[in-house]
Amino acid sequence: MMKTTALAAALAAVALATPVAAQMDVEDQIETRQSAYQFAAWNMGKIKAQAIDGSVAYDQQQIQAAANAIAAVANSGMSTLYSRDSANDRADNTRLKPNFFEEPMKVQEVAVNFVREANKLQEVAATGDKAAVAQQFAKVGESCKACHDNFRAD
Ligand code: HEC
Repeated sequence: MMKTTALAAALAAVALATPVAAQMDVEDQIETRQSAYQFAAWNMGKIKAQAIDGSVAYDQQQIQAAANAIAAVANSGMSTLYSRDSANDRADNTRLKPNFFEEPMKVQEVAVNFVREANKLQEVAATGDKAAVAQQFAKVGESCKACHDNFRAD
């Protein structure tokens, strides 16, 4: 029963993903990816405050929730939010540089890295090891920056 439900949900998700992405217009892609990154940044900020700066008391549940949220963003299939027409030479209100579509290997590298580091942060957060969280937080931050340095306009 559980199995069937999970499978049905997975199939429904697959069935939904393609048409929704295809129908999404450029403005929606831009808004959605900006919101996703803002949401990730908000959660990164919580981890920074608790595990690095110490300006907020370390709360295992909050750290774990924040890491889960960042990993969810990383694993959400954000590539569907990037169309050629959504780069800053063709669209307004975006900082996406057009070279994103000329350097697929680099995009792949930074994206895979982001997912890997975010998944690792999620794992480390679950252990409750504050020092390890701080260390892995830095790795995730570097993976954010690597993409920005290459593909986000100032
Ligand atoms: C695969 C590339 C990539 C990765 C990885 C990435 N970003 Fe970004 N980020 C971008 C791009 C491109 C933009 C500009 C989006 C736009 O303006 O359309 C952006 C924009 C942003 C913004 C501004 C959003 C806005 O409202 O305009 C923030 C904040 C941000 N990123 C934070 C992060 C954080 C934090 C991480 C890591 C946890 C991260 N990003 C990972 C590419 C990336």
